[in-house]
Amino acid sequence: MFSKDIQTQVDKLLSRYPIRQNALIPILHLAQNENEGWLSEVWMQYVADICEVPLTHVEGVVTFYTMFRLKPPGKYHLQVCTCVPCCLVGGTELLEHTEKKLDIHAGHTTDDGVFSIEEMECIGACSFAPAVIVNEDYHEKVTPEEMDKMIDELRQ
Ligand code: FES
Repeated sequence: MFSKDIQTQVDKLLSRYPIRQNALIPILHLAQNENEGWLSEVWMQYVADICEVPLTHVEGVVTFYTMFRLKPPGKYHLQVCTCVPCCLVGGTELLEHTEKKLDIHAGHTTDDGVFSIEEMECIGACSFAPAVIVNEDYHEKVTPEEMDKMIDELRQ
């Protein structure tokens, strides 16, 4: 199921570890990227077979780490940090504002599939709180007005 390029990366990862299981997390990242940002049971089984671990082990890893998703995200996945440093400077209000603007709660996707929101623990940008990740891009010191502008621009 991996494309040829990604299979090359998988093979390289596997060659770095004496035990195939140790490459599980980076291979799951590749699988998630290949499957438009989420991991279906078919993909988890595929990775389980590659890493020679039971599917239940993969499911345990995927459900433990919040960076793995079990359902498709929106085209633009907004990850809003509400951990303490961000919360102290408006992270919670920013999340609520975003939910209101898109008329969905965190953990959900808009009906048109364009936006999804996820409430995050620290995303490693505490000095620039409140912080948001949109797909792979970090946005720092985000105000509700900036969030509105960003959403409006992305929608176009
Ligand atoms: S607490 Fe929000 S980035 Fe660290």
